Amino acid sequence: MSPVSAARTASAETTDTSMLRVSGLTKSYSRGTSLLSRLGSSGPSTLKALDGVDLDLRPGEILALVGESGSGKSTLAKILVGSTTATGGQVFYRGTGALARRDRESSRRVQMVFQDPYSSLNPRLTVGRMLAELLLLHKIVPRSEVRAESVRLLNLVGLEEEVLGAYPSQFSGGQRQRLAIARAIAVRPDVLIADEPVSALDVSVQATILDLFTSLRAELGLSILFIAHNLAVVQHLSDRVAVMYLGRIVEIADTRELFAHPRHPYTRALIDSIPRMREGSVNDAFELDGEPPSPYDVPAGCRFHPRCALASEICRANDPPLLQVRPAHESACLKADELAAIPLPEPPQELP
Ligand SMILES: Nc1ncnc2c1ncn2[C@@H]1O[C@H](COP(=O)(O)OP(=O)(O)O)[C@@H](O)[C@H]1O
Ligand code: SF4
Ligand SMILES: [Mg+2]
Repeated sequence: MSPVSAARTASAETTDTSMLRVSGLTKSYSRGTSLLSRLGSSGPSTLKALDGVDLDLRPGEILALVGESGSGKSTLAKILVGSTTATGGQVFYRGTGALARRDRESSRRVQMVFQDPYSSLNPRLTVGRMLAELLLLHKIVPRSEVRAESVRLLNLVGLEEEVLGAYPSQFSGGQRQRLAIARAIAVRPDVLIADEPVSALDVSVQATILDLFTSLRAELGLSILFIAHNLAVVQHLSDRVAVMYLGRIVEIADTRELFAHPRHPYTRALIDSIPRMREGSVNDAFELDGEPPSPYDVPAGCRFHPRCALASEICRANDPPLLQVRPAHESACLKADELAAIPLPEPPQELP
């Protein structure tokens, strides 16, 4: 664990009010040992999908986790729901390591919603059977109340009683995502982890599903980790935003604060890439070129330096830690002050 993580762990243990907290989390994958995977791969053999992540999810908040494809978002989500194990670091649920047990009760508390709802729904079960099996397995209600509870759940996600007899294949993409959400909340979790739940949906449908997350948070008091690859999606949804790049959190702040005062050039590039009403209002210097570097070979110094408009020698020699740059706002950039002096573009266009 890094000295920064160790210090945070020590101070957080006494006053940990978070729903979920990860500390110094790492996850490495080894290149396969087959001849095929070794051919043409002379570089490092270990990929660092997560490289020291510290993050907390507060009670009742919607925390957005945003970053390009391959930055490690799904790996973090999978560790949090227990479908993969971390290489190093710790996961705390309500201040304890309870989730490490991964018994049925621990698993129930943290539920996941996926990008492709079809993959998480059994195509051979009607909606009624699917919900009934879950409610009985987890002893949420007695058998006599299963139907009423199923209808309540469907209504919560904007579906009607009539769909109890239908199969997942009979639904549209947006309705399937509603079903997947009903399935996740059926077991009365405390935490919902939504991994790009609107990325595969039409823009008009996206907005209705985003509204659903907001209303579920209000009605059920859920804490939600909402993963997206695009800041525009979470702009009006989340309370806070954590920006991830090549396995690290590089900036975290309240959503308004982050959009008004970005202090990392990567965040600035993501903000500038949001569609705007007026052409020419964006500073092209921050435009992101190409793909992120391979996580098999993370750049030395600041991992963002090969794509950064402000990079200089100091950035190639130093790996910046995540530090407070403004109240309740942390950034891992050595030139956060320099960035602050470059005017922001006009506010992004509102989502429909
Ligand atoms: N099971 C796996 N085996 C090897 N590499 C993996 C595996 N799962 C993810 N990765 C790699 O880990 C990195 C992070 O992946 P992922 O967490 O899926 O990112 P994101 O969700 O942000 O797109 C990527 O480089 C990906 O190729
Ligand atoms: S430390 Fe340097 S390279 Fe890294 S984000 Fe800041 S300015 Fe860019
Ligand atoms: Mg992913």
